[in-house]
Amino acid sequence: MIYLDNSATTKPYSAVLETYTKVASRYFANPSSLHAFGQKVRELHEEARKQIAQLLGVRSDELIFTSGGTESNNLALKGIAHRYKNRGRHLITTQVEHPSIKEVMGELEKEGFTVTYLPVDEQGVIRVSDFEHALREDTILVSVMHVNNEVGSIQPIQEISNRLSKHQAFFHVDNIQGMGMCELDLNGIDLLSVSAHKLHGLRGTGLLYKKKGIELHSEMLGGGQEGGIRSGTENTAGAVAFAKALRLVLTEKENKLKDVLAIRDYLLQELSQIEGIHVHSKKACMAPHILCLSARGHRGEVLVHALEQKEIFVSTTSACSSKAKLASSTLKAMGVSDEEATGAIRISLGYENTDAEAEQFIVAFREVLEKINEVVK
Ligand SMILES: Cc1ncc(COP(=O)(O)O)c(C=O)c1O
Repeated sequence: MIYLDNSATTKPYSAVLETYTKVASRYFANPSSLHAFGQKVRELHEEARKQIAQLLGVRSDELIFTSGGTESNNLALKGIAHRYKNRGRHLITTQVEHPSIKEVMGELEKEGFTVTYLPVDEQGVIRVSDFEHALREDTILVSVMHVNNEVGSIQPIQEISNRLSKHQAFFHVDNIQGMGMCELDLNGIDLLSVSAHKLHGLRGTGLLYKKKGIELHSEMLGGGQEGGIRSGTENTAGAVAFAKALRLVLTEKENKLKDVLAIRDYLLQELSQIEGIHVHSKKACMAPHILCLSARGHRGEVLVHALEQKEIFVSTTSACSSKAKLASSTLKAMGVSDEEATGAIRISLGYENTDAEAEQFIVAFREVLEKINEVVK
């Protein structure tokens, strides 16, 4: 099997699974229980938070464990909007965010907030000048993803945070596709979402970084866990496994990022020689691991299923859009035609992919295209 769908989810590292099983089976007490067994689990939970904080270079009391990226994004947006609505009711985001941002922004609009959706250029990147024009005195939140999940474009996070340094608006970054693959300076970022299953951790575990001093309206009421912001009995085994996954993936980043880049460049080079292929991801501003392309005249889902016959797994832009069989909204925002946007596929690499797999992919992809072209003739 050749797995090239790492942006949908990654294979959990076996060490992460072992950690999870060990903690879940041995240290199953509730960390809020007063007895010594509960307190041992509390220690493990807080140790996991501390380790993640060290890896990210933040304070441990700035981290909130959640159930994943979707929850972190919901909490950041609703938590800020509902807490600071008296300061202003204007929010800024982009046209190419994940549904866990877009849908929440839509809900907030229904509640009376005004949202500016920044357009992107043909590379899938917002223009800082558009952002500057959109920023208003009553803007309270700016939410921009670091790495786009469909085409891999990288947004100008540093420039935005520089512009916001003297503004009241909080800056939230969805870093779910970037963590473990792309550098990001957290200075100047107020809130950051991370998801464990995108970095060889487990589903059902996520994080929201929230800079000290910022308050969030709690969207999950109950026992007051996670500093009163996110109630619910803590998933300590998940938190410890998350810390392990993050440590391992950041080590991989140090040692193997160059290999991922080499595979990406090889794929770009080979794909550019195949007639009718249009690569939408632009090297100048793309993440190392995401490549989005269309094959003229072919539907993305046909290509995905044809490749699957050869045990090669890619996706049609994003897992979410493929389920709904919708044209990629990111590609449409980039000005790509409807036909190409519906026909796109996404190849997303991880640290476990090899040169040999990339070569096999190219051979298989050429065969698939030839076969489909014959059927179409
Ligand atoms: C950019 C981005 N944001 C948010 C999410 C949602 O994360 P999760 O699957 O952990 O809920 C995803 C998942 O694909 C994503 O790619």
